[in-house]
Amino acid sequence: MPKVLVSDAIDQAGIEILTQVAQVTYEPDLSPATLLETIPQYDALMIRSGTKVTAPVIEAAQRLRIIGRAGVGVDNVDLQAATRKGIVVVNSPEGNTIAAAEHAIALMMSLSRHVGEANASLKAGQWKRSQFIGVEVYKKTIGVVGLGRIGAHVTRVARALGMQIVAFDPYISAERAQQLGARLVDLEQLFHEADYITLHVPRTPETTHLINEKTLALMKPTARIINCARGGLIDEQALYIALKEGRIAGAALDVFENEPLGESPLCALGREVILTPHLGASTEEAQTNVAIDVAEQIRDVLLGLPARTA
Ligand code: NAD
Ligand code: MLT
Repeated sequence: MPKVLVSDAIDQAGIEILTQVAQVTYEPDLSPATLLETIPQYDALMIRSGTKVTAPVIEAAQRLRIIGRAGVGVDNVDLQAATRKGIVVVNSPEGNTIAAAEHAIALMMSLSRHVGEANASLKAGQWKRSQFIGVEVYKKTIGVVGLGRIGAHVTRVARALGMQIVAFDPYISAERAQQLGARLVDLEQLFHEADYITLHVPRTPETTHLINEKTLALMKPTARIINCARGGLIDEQALYIALKEGRIAGAALDVFENEPLGESPLCALGREVILTPHLGASTEEAQTNVAIDVAEQIRDVLLGLPARTA
């Protein structure tokens, strides 16, 4: 029987599918050293974002045929090294779309109404209603950067909340944007107009530090930024300075340049910053969806059927 290593926390529904065709080793939180040492014995590897499948790991693999990423982003896999070795990399492009979009909306609402800080204050025994006056999102403008699967769903929900939507995505048509109720603009105009800026792009050379000292300077002092996409889209130091100096009103981040976040000046800021530990895809529904989606693809490859590549 082929052997599959699952090295991040994966929903049981996926494990059950794999067990039909393979001997499964379930080791969430496997250390990088153990991964490197044990990878030669496996035919397939299933991961989330925690495991880093580096070139040395891929070089050490002797029988690996497929790497399955239970989620969207495959940026924790060295794709070039995998391709060189003929290892297929698959993902789940749609399984966590709703979860990530809803988390972005949750962050936008929490930021607007100080939910996190009001909760902490009340639990600390205080009753300070006048300190937690928020703002409404109704009739405000949201700038959606990246109008793909998640950006499109955020747009639908934002419309239902009565927001105006401007969007920047050079790879989609004006017709598609119009269908979603968004107006396509260039990035500079989006930064000028938006009360909320929400990022839904992959991390690429073009999008790395898309939010930086210069682009922050284009924003309204009342602007709030949400990043539920990828760490590294925001220059965190520049964001910290802009927030500290009151040049923008707030930011809510789910993803970070370095994860786990560890020490960051952002943690010292108050209600203007909300931070969550990469929870965008962390719903029961999304985890079941992605686990089934990717486990089925691994199963098919182990059975000799063609793969759907990431
Ligand atoms: P998608 O591929 O459906 O959409 C991405 C969109 O970005 C596309 O429409 C593409 O045209 C656009 N784009 C690419 N480069 C761009 C650029 N330079 N400027 C503007 N637009 C650009 O992807 P998706 O499923 O919507 O995912 C979006 C991001 O969210 C990905 O980075 C994904 O990894 C991340 N994600 C995070 C979580 C989380 O847990 N926080 C969960 C799921 C997905
Ligand atoms: C993704 O790209 O799907 C997200 O990072 C979600 C995750 O797997 O944690």
